[in-house]
Amino acid sequence: MCGIVGYIGPKPAAPVLLEGLAKLEYRGYDSAGIATICGEQIKVIKQKGKLEVLEAALADEELGGSIGIGHTRWATHGKPSDENAHPHYDCSGRFAVVHNGIIENYQDLKDELIKEGHTFRSETDTEVLAHLVEKFYNGDLLETINQVIKQVDGAYAMVILSTDEPDKLVCARKDSPLVVGLGEGENFLASDIPAILKHTRKTFIMEDGEVAVVTDQRVEVFNQKGKVDKEVYQVDWDIEAAEKGGYPHFMLKEIFEQPRALRATLKGRLDNGGVLLDELKQIKNLNDINKVYFVACGTAYHAGLVGKYVMENLARIPAEADIASEFRYRDPLIDENTLVVVISQSGETADTLAAMREAQSKGAPVVAITNVVGSSVSREADAVIYTWAGPEVAVASTKAYLTQLAAAYLLGLFIGQERKVLTSDQVTSVTQALRELPEQLEQVLGHAETVEKLAGEWAKREDAFFIGRGLDYAVSLEGSLKLKEISYIHAEAYAAGELKHGTLALITEGIPVVALATQSSIYDKTVSNIKEVKARGAHVTAVVFEDSNISQSVDQVITIPNTIPLLAPILTVVPLQLLAYYAAVARGSDVDKPRNLAKSVTVE
Ligand code: F6R
Repeated sequence: MCGIVGYIGPKPAAPVLLEGLAKLEYRGYDSAGIATICGEQIKVIKQKGKLEVLEAALADEELGGSIGIGHTRWATHGKPSDENAHPHYDCSGRFAVVHNGIIENYQDLKDELIKEGHTFRSETDTEVLAHLVEKFYNGDLLETINQVIKQVDGAYAMVILSTDEPDKLVCARKDSPLVVGLGEGENFLASDIPAILKHTRKTFIMEDGEVAVVTDQRVEVFNQKGKVDKEVYQVDWDIEAAEKGGYPHFMLKEIFEQPRALRATLKGRLDNGGVLLDELKQIKNLNDINKVYFVACGTAYHAGLVGKYVMENLARIPAEADIASEFRYRDPLIDENTLVVVISQSGETADTLAAMREAQSKGAPVVAITNVVGSSVSREADAVIYTWAGPEVAVASTKAYLTQLAAAYLLGLFIGQERKVLTSDQVTSVTQALRELPEQLEQVLGHAETVEKLAGEWAKREDAFFIGRGLDYAVSLEGSLKLKEISYIHAEAYAAGELKHGTLALITEGIPVVALATQSSIYDKTVSNIKEVKARGAHVTAVVFEDSNISQSVDQVITIPNTIPLLAPILTVVPLQLLAYYAAVARGSDVDKPRNLAKSVTVE
């Protein structure tokens, strides 16, 4: 995910572009840049780092011109660096481009262009677009873009600037968002409405397959059939709501983005024969591994707990999950045959980084599961499995956790398949079930209203419990953490069979309990534990598969679609995230920025 902007009109372009990018920083923030036409030339300033770094560079070097494009990046191809930052330009410097999306066939195109004499400056997929424009340019930028998009596979929203036609911007969209802002004697382009809302509320929402020519006086949109008679979309939201795509908080937006994030993380990694994880080629001794450690903090540690079950179940290798701040100081018994899997959304968590270095100092190969390309964890690990959740803005992690689970399944399945401990039927059945999950997630999100009502009751309480066995216990821990960190309700997660050894004393009349019961091998045992809390007056909400018959034993049931029990965490965590969210809203908490917490914890 990245953010792009464009401007043409009477004003100096650079400040307009910068302001627009500031509204899009939630789409990515590892580097930023702008290009304008100054006199006869395209001038580009781009920098690794947040937008403020670009702002500082622009304060030192003024960028004139009243036509320009800008970009804020979330790295996919190529680490965050000045060279990989957008805009990218061709060899002659006559064409500059900003792009959001992924050009899937970029390597083939790049190889061909290099053979034809083009020189590339970056590792990005985007740069091929600038060179393709240069290659096909025939005096008509619109025709050239139509030619270029025939060459590329993948997703794009792109804007092109050219000194040969300095009175226009040309843009195109397929599977990545793009809007045109319609001004008076000026026009705007952006990935999202907030970037233009200060200037205009009149917009064209570009559809897939559309290309537009934008001058200061007019906007013409075309598709394959010819000129499109676009309807003006009048924006009636305020800026704050628009940034969140109409959701009241980033956290809710991110919860609802989970089907998309999961699809993106699985994409290209599943085929009929099983899992493809070329990333793991870097681990040379995969077949000699005799122990796996998942090491992480907070929510990522909870993903590691699921990883432990998954690794033991699918790869039949003994596995442990450990808290990074503990692992690093306890002289762990690991060697070159121990695989250490560090999990970190940000890739910058100090304790996780230190734990990783500790593991490497003992010779253990390290695989990182992270969401941020070019992060410290990704640079230092021996192999990286990226989660493609896109930027997570809310402090409480949701879509990153869910995609971390997906990465753990892919890893476990891959190792099981490589070490031949799974039959091909077993691999196929898990692969098939994984494929069905994004749609099943959409069904679970359909329970949001029911969960909201339940949360209204929970919001009045000061204590709550989450119980479950096995994988359900691992997810209970995550549900409990979510509730605590944003609603400030005290919550405990307990292994259901352990309650009777002390904690049952805390179960009193009306206390809210969420009981997860999806693990078929221990279902009856969990139901017995549910009856124990029910008998002591608890108000029990069960999270179970659709075919469960639990309703007589509890006060409320939330169902998830049937899948194999091993994959249940991906679905059961969603009602728990929603419960925490709605309870926090009902209690008036600052949901996206809970007290005492930060998104990236770079201190020990
Ligand atoms: C809780 C949460 C934190 C993080 C933890 C690790 O919702 O987000 O517990 O999971 O601080 O952060 P990363 O994954 O960036 O290493």
